[in-house]
Amino acid sequence: MSAELVLAIETSCDETAVAVADPFGRPLVSRIASQVKLHAPYGGVVPELASRNHSLDLRPLLESALAEAGISTSGIGIVAATSGPGLASSLLVGDTLAKAVAVGLGRPFYSINHMEGHLLSPFLHPYREIPPHVGLIVSGGHTLLIEVRGVGDYRLLGSTKDDAAGEAFDKVGKLLGLPYPGGPEIAKLAVAGRRDAHAFPRSMVHSGDLEFSFSGLKTSARVLLDRLGGVPTGEALADFCASFEEAIVDILVIKLLEACRRTGRRIAAISGGVSCNRRLRERAAAAVQGEGVELVLADPAYSTDNAAMIAFAAAARRRAGIGPSPLDGDINPNLRLA
Ligand code: KG4
Ligand code: ZN
Repeated sequence: MSAELVLAIETSCDETAVAVADPFGRPLVSRIASQVKLHAPYGGVVPELASRNHSLDLRPLLESALAEAGISTSGIGIVAATSGPGLASSLLVGDTLAKAVAVGLGRPFYSINHMEGHLLSPFLHPYREIPPHVGLIVSGGHTLLIEVRGVGDYRLLGSTKDDAAGEAFDKVGKLLGLPYPGGPEIAKLAVAGRRDAHAFPRSMVHSGDLEFSFSGLKTSARVLLDRLGGVPTGEALADFCASFEEAIVDILVIKLLEACRRTGRRIAAISGGVSCNRRLRERAAAAVQGEGVELVLADPAYSTDNAAMIAFAAAARRRAGIGPSPLDGDINPNLRLA
């Protein structure tokens, strides 16, 4: 048997994903069956549709991932699955199949927190030992600043009081009539816009803590659209998107640097779907210069939901001597990281 290859399954939301990784968690195969098109007409994820399609897609995806890795199930050393946070009926599909495979093969099972997957993902490709650092996770459901003292040793520094950064993008995308998810669509339009065309609020940047708030931004977007007499087009739409994107990026960069100052950590990592945002990547890279902070960005291929990050977190836990997880553990839609 190849030494401890990791099989990981991720079905927490609307992506069915399977990965095979080496014992360090370096991905050999990472497959994703996206449901984005399926949910797009509804402007958000429909839980019933999501779980039904996980059930349909997961097994063929698993078989094709193993074929691509050139192994049969007997080549699997450990099995991992996302156990939360996420949609209960979606989590159950991946968790159940992963446990069945682990039991059937007599292999250890690792139950992984989806947010730990995102948190550690900046170090999976290119591969690097996970150093103590400050991690900023910006996804559709979460905005978290976390001090990573070691694998499995996380301290929550701050989170959002209302909407997540990705959620703000998606909600304003909806207001603008853009396809779901709105984040990448706004980012595309923003490229041609003026970032100082509109003064969107930078909520909580002077709050003296590391908390975030994005709901005011969404409200001011709505007010501005009313003032403009509806959704603008052409250059005016680009200006709107660029100014809106700049406000979110400003807030994220300011808080990330503040977290580095407060903790004294010299490495900052950004992960989650919003970390694909090119403006955020550029602005964060520029901001750490002169601060003596090294920036590590998740590879865009592993920023949105994927199973490679789940395999990586499982491998990191195993190498740190943490786990495996009990087979009678339950999924937890509200699982917290710290
Ligand atoms: O991490 P993720 O795939 O799913 C969750 O676990 O939530 O993140 C999805 C989020 C969505 O809100 C989407 O709009 C946002 O990531 N996103 C972006 C970009 N690409 C994805 N937001 C801004 N700019 C992008 N380029
Ligand atoms: Zn995610």
